[in-house]
Amino acid sequence: MADLFLPVLYGSVREPRASFPVAEFVHSELGKRPGVTTQLYDPRDLPFGNLVHRVWEMPAPEPVVTSFVTDMARADGFVIVTPEYNYGIPGALKNLLDHLFSEWNRKPFAIVACGGLGGGLRATDGLRLIVPGLGAVTVPRTMVVHQVQSEFGPEGPKDPLKWRTRFAPLADDLEWYARALRAAREGGSSPP
Ligand SMILES: Cc1cc2nc3c(=O)[nH]c(=O)nc-3n(C[C@H](O)[C@H](O)[C@H](O)COP(=O)(O)O)c2cc1C
Repeated sequence: MADLFLPVLYGSVREPRASFPVAEFVHSELGKRPGVTTQLYDPRDLPFGNLVHRVWEMPAPEPVVTSFVTDMARADGFVIVTPEYNYGIPGALKNLLDHLFSEWNRKPFAIVACGGLGGGLRATDGLRLIVPGLGAVTVPRTMVVHQVQSEFGPEGPKDPLKWRTRFAPLADDLEWYARALRAAREGGSSPP
């Protein structure tokens, strides 16, 4: 069976990016799993500002857009790693998601949310409302990182074992749903 391709989508363009090391950690952990390939996507590297044209409506999409769309189309599932801003997800993440549609359809999303005291719980809830709008599903487990600045530094988690132990069940969940939904999509058992 072909490897699962499970991209990691980081949610913010804000400095100083205290939550970016969480995305790097998730990307590194996913990449160690047999049968999984992954890539980390940063909205900073993509020209998606406020939504003007969805990708299929763009008169002349830049090569970086075309390449991103191709990657998302072949993905089997996604991990979103995002900070929470004022009880919600960053605008950069909402805009990135809104630019595509069919590429997300009938695929699973795992959510990793970071925050201060709130720990990203409301960003998680927000994504559980948004992802069905993309024609996709969220996996049951999540990972939240309370006080991300205390837990992660530029080099990664201060307690790697703790965060490996927390991330592994979420990755298991994502793999299970990614394989099941890929089989359903390939088997034509999805409704038209
Ligand atoms: C504008 C803003 C709003 C925030 N709102 C929340 C919040 O509602 N809940 C929470 O837990 N943390 C909140 N935080 C803290 C951040 O989520 C946390 O520090 C974060 O991971 C910082 O990420 P960043 O440096 O990658 O942007 C907020 C931070 C900023 C800058």
